[in-house]
Amino acid sequence: MMRVGLIGAGFIGRNHFNQYERLGGRAKVVALCDKEADRRSGDWSKVGGNIADTQGTRRDLGGIRQYAEWKKLLKDSEVDMVDICVPTYLHAQIAMAALKAGKHVLSEKPMALNVRDCNKMLAVAAESPGKFMIAQCIRFWPECVWLKEAVDDKRFGELKALHLRRQASTPTYSEGNWIQNPELSGGAILDLHVHDVDYALFMLGKPRWVCAQTYQRTGGGYDRVHALWQYRPDLVVQLEGFWDMFPAYSFNMGFTARFENAAVVFDLVGGKPLTVQKPDGSIETPPMRPDDGYFNEICYFLDCIERNEAPRVSTPAESRDAVAIALAEVKSALTGKVVAIK
Ligand SMILES: NC(=O)c1ccc[n+]([C@@H]2O[C@H](COP(=O)([O-])OP(=O)(O)OC[C@H]3O[C@@H](n4cnc5c(N)ncnc54)[C@H](O)[C@@H]3O)[C@@H](O)[C@H]2O)c1
Repeated sequence: MMRVGLIGAGFIGRNHFNQYERLGGRAKVVALCDKEADRRSGDWSKVGGNIADTQGTRRDLGGIRQYAEWKKLLKDSEVDMVDICVPTYLHAQIAMAALKAGKHVLSEKPMALNVRDCNKMLAVAAESPGKFMIAQCIRFWPECVWLKEAVDDKRFGELKALHLRRQASTPTYSEGNWIQNPELSGGAILDLHVHDVDYALFMLGKPRWVCAQTYQRTGGGYDRVHALWQYRPDLVVQLEGFWDMFPAYSFNMGFTARFENAAVVFDLVGGKPLTVQKPDGSIETPPMRPDDGYFNEICYFLDCIERNEAPRVSTPAESRDAVAIALAEVKSALTGKVVAIK
């Protein structure tokens, strides 16, 4: 059984905790760290987020060791794997320390706030015995896995156009409002839009160049981006990410993929299934794999540890590339020029 030390019991830490509870004997949270006393003791009534917690806001953490400081959790010899769910500006520091302490490390996206820190993390991981993966949940999201398979096996012919979208109201739930400080979160581009940057990389590899336009409307850094990625002249790839909407606006992630012989549409909002429309007008709703990307990414990381294999579905180098390309979009927006991707 994998003994997990979870650092950060906020929105996504609570979500991961719920996933481990579903894993039965395969993995168990044995230690929990949060700087806030109520959160590390299982009172999650003040934890918010853009996806509701259906399991209630209080947990009995009897038997789970509680730490106020992450450095102390890393010294716990009965922790095999560390799951890092703290604000983004802490990812690099904690991940490197955990790897140096000999732990397996799953760390939330984005990998870090800049490419320099990502490269430092890669260097430490290369010298460390533990497995390392960034929790890029979209690579494991059933509809997104399905679309990548359709692109790869060309069941509908070539992909001709792709629109990835991630749309939200301005986040107000983070502890101390760190998320609206771009120096701590990277703003909407590194916090929200990076999911689609990473997914496009997963599906199509690196583009030749990107161009983008961004907006700052809410005072929390860039809170909207519209980008075009160039691969080849007969493929249009458009990515849209924003969190500048009013509070009542429901969170949505989705895509429209135009293939030679089909149009595939998915939007999370409203709970509608992914649809495939054929040129003759017929519509199919193919069955999806069970479970969401959060559960699936954790299961995959555990697979890798159990098989003693480095993660391949999502590599830390690709997560670094996602940060680099997201920042290239910002550069494009600032300069008004396309930015070549190496
Ligand atoms: N994969 C996803 O879909 C997804 C969704 C949300 C957030 N995230 C990522 O997860 C990370 C956390 O985001 P969140 O929404 O859970 O934020 P949050 O503010 O809800 O939770 C962060 C938690 O970390 C704790 N914390 C802060 N500093 C700490 C420290 N020094 N030591 C111990 N605990 C500390 C806070 O008290 C809080 O409980 C971010 O990097 C974010 O980008 C990913």
